[in-house]
Amino acid sequence: MKTAVTEMLDIALPIFAFSHCRDVVAAVSRAGGFGCLGAGYFTKDQLEEELRWIDDHVDGKPYGVDLLMPNRHADLGSVKLDVHSVPQQQVRFLRELLDAAHVPPLPRTEADAMIEAEIAKVNMTREESEALLDVALKHPIKMVVNALGVPSREQVERVHALGIRVGALVGRVEHARKQREAGVDVIVAQGAEAGGHTGNISSMILWPQVVDAVSPTPVLAAGGIGSGRQMAAALAMGASGIWCGSIWLGTRESDLLPEEKRALFAARAEDAVQTLSRTGKQCRVLRSKLTEAWEQPGAPPVLPMPLQTIATMEARLRIARGHAKDFMSPPVGQIVHSMSAETTVRQVITDMLTEYSDAMDRLQGIISDG
Ligand SMILES: Cc1cc2nc3c(=O)[nH]c(=O)nc-3n(C[C@H](O)[C@H](O)[C@H](O)COP(=O)(O)O)c2cc1C
Repeated sequence: MKTAVTEMLDIALPIFAFSHCRDVVAAVSRAGGFGCLGAGYFTKDQLEEELRWIDDHVDGKPYGVDLLMPNRHADLGSVKLDVHSVPQQQVRFLRELLDAAHVPPLPRTEADAMIEAEIAKVNMTREESEALLDVALKHPIKMVVNALGVPSREQVERVHALGIRVGALVGRVEHARKQREAGVDVIVAQGAEAGGHTGNISSMILWPQVVDAVSPTPVLAAGGIGSGRQMAAALAMGASGIWCGSIWLGTRESDLLPEEKRALFAARAEDAVQTLSRTGKQCRVLRSKLTEAWEQPGAPPVLPMPLQTIATMEARLRIARGHAKDFMSPPVGQIVHSMSAETTVRQVITDMLTEYSDAMDRLQGIISDG
């Protein structure tokens, strides 16, 4: 296939994968698409290890890295966040919730160290993301993608000077214009159907709006794409490629917990709900007893990013270790309804291309029959 982004990044297919899982990233790039590693939850050393692994498993194919650089987050000043400085009202709320459901507590002697290790992985300030960028730029990446904010001119120029492209996620047309002005090469227009942090404009409205606003800058369509029909619709609306996150969660290469995968396979579109309770910013996740608890009267206020993530860390660890499936809430988009059994990255891509081709034939048939 040939579009502006396949040419720009020297790839065979305009299919992009966002994933925190290195196996997914490498498998998508090896299959001719473009894997992008979500680096928001790695320490610098872990990111170095993941990228080294990808370098060894990607057969020289292009891949990228995705960072979180929010324009706005809680003003932390010089506060060093640790297990003791986390606001306690929210921590206590979750502790009582999980105690009442008999989810085992963390082992007393190890709890603090376990929580600290997770907090160390949270990279949501500009400074932390810059440190990860330093690590990423030492690897043969082809694109750096940024979410939740506009990169500075200096950041873009620094990346461009190394021959690396810059991408950015947006959920509104004004944000797309700002990204283009900052010198971003590829805009990812992410509709509200998507998993993870989302805005409120649906893909059907957002994609063509952004395409028109930033042309000739190429646009990747994101949010609600898991099949070839949806891919055909995105390209028909002027996108140069597709950017998917949720669909890879159900693959063998994905490192989601088995209980989480099973919960996704059983879910309906309406079970993928938007909540502030995961990170403090609107995020689409699988509904569970955890998301429901934050909606009850008497629930404490949700904290701003990154404090909410940190305040919920102990509970997240308890839920995972205790296999408390009723409380599991992985980020996922509304296409969760179409995921019903474990598959592989290669199968997802093969099915997508077959269905894309069928959709094109059907459209062509409409014209010639008419
Ligand atoms: C589990 C999960 C985690 C995500 N985390 C991030 C992230 O850290 N950074 C980011 O740019 N996008 C993140 N996203 C959003 C994806 O990049 C992508 O835009 C979105 O998944 C596309 O919509 P879809 O879920 O319908 O495929 C995440 C998505 C999912 C499903």
